[in-house]
Amino acid sequence: MCFMLAFSPILRTQARGLQLHRFTGTPSLIGKLCRMSSTNPLAAVCQVTSTPDKEANFAACKRLVEQAKERGACMVFLPEGFDYIGSSRDETLNLSESMEGETISRYAELARKLEVWLSLGGFHERGENWESDRRIYNSHIILDAQGHIVSVYRKGHLFDVELTGRGVSLKESAFTVPGPALTPAVQTPIGKVGLGVCYDLRFPELSLALRRQGAEILTYPSAFTVATGAAHWEVLLRARAIETQCFVLAAAQVGSHHAKRASYGHALAVDPWGTVLGDCGGAEAGVALVQVDMQKLRDTRRDMPVEQHRREATFYSSLG
Ligand SMILES: *[C@@H]1O[C@H](CO)[C@@H](O)[C@H](O)[C@H]1NC(C)=O
Repeated sequence: MCFMLAFSPILRTQARGLQLHRFTGTPSLIGKLCRMSSTNPLAAVCQVTSTPDKEANFAACKRLVEQAKERGACMVFLPEGFDYIGSSRDETLNLSESMEGETISRYAELARKLEVWLSLGGFHERGENWESDRRIYNSHIILDAQGHIVSVYRKGHLFDVELTGRGVSLKESAFTVPGPALTPAVQTPIGKVGLGVCYDLRFPELSLALRRQGAEILTYPSAFTVATGAAHWEVLLRARAIETQCFVLAAAQVGSHHAKRASYGHALAVDPWGTVLGDCGGAEAGVALVQVDMQKLRDTRRDMPVEQHRREATFYSSLG
């Protein structure tokens, strides 16, 4: 059961140094706000600073999920690498688990206890042939409010990028297997959610396929580098929202994970018109609560029906 608040569309806190900021309204004020409450469900988009310490990462994410739930969120979004960000290939592989391991069990228990849906973006999941090849998937997992796994998408586009002079050099395919297929959008209390992970954001083919199949909300849990984030993050997220006329929710990693890696932050929520509804900033962990107003989506799609104007596949392949 979700309860709604009728604040401004954006309810944002920064959990300074990961300290929990509790809702400070008086009980009578809360009562008034509830009577005015709208019918729009609230989504919470989180940003954290994962390190190789899985225990500390879980504690930090758990605090944000609790805080979001306390403020009325129906579904909470955690970024890629919410479980950990390793400082070497070896460490990254050693820390990985299967879906039946302790990490997902703990999150399932958290979802069940708080009765909240969770998007766990970018879990380091041991692959089918782990014993022989030591390869993992980068998996985006959706848990329902009973803690059941209702959907899994394995990242399809791997980040093998070397930006000369910009300090970006990552080769995800050295330890990760690309996912074989897209996953159908999943019905949640905030709408139909289509799944991507981080670098997938750069491939509009994926977002358009999810939109065609009925997605209302696209999700890109991420750990963007500072250089690519500053240049591309917001414009890509807004472009995906505008061209698909979907909400876009993008949880993010922020700050320094270890000596060799930092992330851009700015966990973002965008509406189907491309307006930024919430932005967690570039400095520290936090959570943005946003209303997912499906009337806004229907109005946007009615006023400018781009999906109906889209041409048949042969039109786009007519150049060969
Ligand atoms: C990873 O595990 C292997 C085998 O257990 C071990 O030899 C190695 O030191 C570990 N590496 C790290 C970075 O934890």
